[in-house]
Amino acid sequence: MLFGKIALTALLGVTGALGLTVKQPHVAFTSSKRSPLALSPITNNYKKLTKPMSIDNANETLELNFSINSDETPQQAVLLLGSISEGLETHFEPIIKTKEGVSTYKFTIPIDQLPEPLLLLAVESRDLLTASLILASEGAVSDNLFVELFDLSLVFDVDRRLSKSPRLEAMPEIKHIFRGASKTVPAWVAQSTSLIIIACFFLLLVAWVALGVFSSVSLSCNTKSLYLLAFIGSVCGMEYVFIRYYLGASIFETLEHAFYASLGGILSGAKLLISLTK
Ligand SMILES: *[C@@H]1O[C@H](CO)[C@@H](O)[C@H](O)[C@H]1NC(C)=O
Ligand SMILES: *[C@@H]1O[C@H](CO)[C@@H](O)[C@H](O)[C@H]1NC(C)=O
Repeated sequence: MLFGKIALTALLGVTGALGLTVKQPHVAFTSSKRSPLALSPITNNYKKLTKPMSIDNANETLELNFSINSDETPQQAVLLLGSISEGLETHFEPIIKTKEGVSTYKFTIPIDQLPEPLLLLAVESRDLLTASLILASEGAVSDNLFVELFDLSLVFDVDRRLSKSPRLEAMPEIKHIFRGASKTVPAWVAQSTSLIIIACFFLLLVAWVALGVFSSVSLSCNTKSLYLLAFIGSVCGMEYVFIRYYLGASIFETLEHAFYASLGGILSGAKLLISLTK
């Protein structure tokens, strides 16, 4: 029905006169021997047939025809078929033939070619399908027609599986779990690195003792001992950085801290060595 409402709304606000007379509407059942059904002339006061037409054969094809004077033909002629309460409809366009001042409109409805959701509704839920007719022209609001013609009741079984149509609605929520950034290298790399660093530290101490660095540096607060403290501090800092890495700090954090610690180590180490040579 939405389609119809949009069509009519689009035509509102424009006035004029068309004087539409829809003559000799018939519904024929072309696939069975059932006799055609004559409807009363279609006007805005048309009353829908009280009894639904029951269709007992999936092969049935319905034909709705009527005639309109050629000088009155509407710009838009659409037949809607579907469930108004479910808001599920399909539409049909007519074949129009004009002869001797009369236009004949013919809508063909092949039942087995109805969209699956409609068949599902009509066959499995036994819902009625309502046929509605829209005849409308721009500038002829008072004469535009939008009437319900008849109901269809499908009383046959379909042997194929029918599926529901996807309706416009929110899609299921997307839950994407990103893989966590890998934080550490394998444990054996971290452990062997720690061991190498500790070994280097002790080698360094031994080398210093052998070189007599400690004996040449007095404990008084001169620049030499300051550099020495800074250098030892940097080396301890480096150890600390690697211990934190071993305990689970990320590689990027480790690289950053190691950079600062080594920068301090290089600067204070160079200064210390220079001051030792003096
Ligand atoms: C529909 O038509 C096809 C072929 O025209 C036929 O094989 C089938 O049996 C018919 N089905 C019914 C329910 O009449
Ligand atoms: C409409 O269909 C009926 C039944 O098939 C037929 O008798 C009638 O001549 C048709 N009318 C027009 C205008 O084609």
